[in-house]
Amino acid sequence: QQRLYSGMQPSADSLQIGNYIGALLQWRELQDQYDAYFSVVDLHALTQPGDPAERREKTRRTAAQYIAAGIEPSRSTLYVQSHVPAHAELQWVLSTLTGFGEAGRMTQFKDKSARYGTDATNVGLFTYPVLMAADILLYQTDVVPVGDDQKQHIELTRDLAERFNQRFGETFAVPKPMIQRETARIYDLQNPTSKMSKSAESDAGVLWMLDEPKVSAKKIMRAVTDSEGAVRFDRDEKPGVSNLLVIYSALTGREITAIEDEYAGRGYGDFKKGLAEVVVSEFEPVRARALELLDDPAELDRVLASNAERAASVAEKTLADVYDRIGLLRRG
Ligand code: TYM
Repeated sequence: QQRLYSGMQPSADSLQIGNYIGALLQWRELQDQYDAYFSVVDLHALTQPGDPAERREKTRRTAAQYIAAGIEPSRSTLYVQSHVPAHAELQWVLSTLTGFGEAGRMTQFKDKSARYGTDATNVGLFTYPVLMAADILLYQTDVVPVGDDQKQHIELTRDLAERFNQRFGETFAVPKPMIQRETARIYDLQNPTSKMSKSAESDAGVLWMLDEPKVSAKKIMRAVTDSEGAVRFDRDEKPGVSNLLVIYSALTGREITAIEDEYAGRGYGDFKKGLAEVVVSEFEPVRARALELLDDPAELDRVLASNAERAASVAEKTLADVYDRIGLLRRG
């Protein structure tokens, strides 16, 4: 069976609808066909400042949302990255094979360091993609389902795998990205030309999975559209309406053209009401289940611990092989 790996940062109390449509929906379907590993990448989230108690809570909440969205921890290996020390260990080895310029060319790093300035940018943000490569390579991963913002990081992962294999002999599987084209990118409702993000400055354009139904509905009703008044897909001229159509289509499985037909001759108000119903009926059970799981954190921690054990046994094997091949002396 082929291996699949993916993960998300626990960087907010709730995941947003872009995480759900761009990643979780695929994960849920793919877990039947693959030997799947899904991590909550808490080490990656350390690149952003945060309160320790809140961090712990966000990690649990992210795991609960994976499960509530349909990832089954008895079938897929759902675990917390820092529970498996091999991630940080392999990251160090891979960092010695990564060029300074190579890491500096990662657009996510470039964007962030340009925004905050190099003095306010921590080294963790620079090595972030190398840790991500370690995540993926430890599990001999074949495919990585992600949104298209992660494509460049997967390219780096492939380069590092090939480089290591070439220098030290076949050690790593070379993974492929798996990107759902239509839904690869969900945009902010208030600012429909920028990606919806857990770290957005304003809440108004972000649909959180754990929002109360009336809050989601309100955000959708207030979403930015245009003055044409026609429900029609056109990314360049109508980014707001197009984004709403993509969300509608992803959650219902219906073609965009069928949705356009349904709302032909009707205003944006009707369309938004329809979308709000779709979003609320999709997320209401997810939200309820997540909150239920969070009511029993001890049980959740138990599930995460047993999954981490499963993950560690695979990861440790790869790491031992890497240490041998690269020439680290074994402890006698
Ligand atoms: P993160 O936490 O930023 O995002 C998690 C997943 O959600 C996707 N995504 C989106 N998709 C569509 N539209 C959006 N607006 C949107 N926002 C986010 C992301 O593409 C991603 O698939 N670096 C990764 C976490 C990571 C990882 C890994 C992923 C660490 N190690 C190993 C895969 C394999 C990240 O930042 O995810």
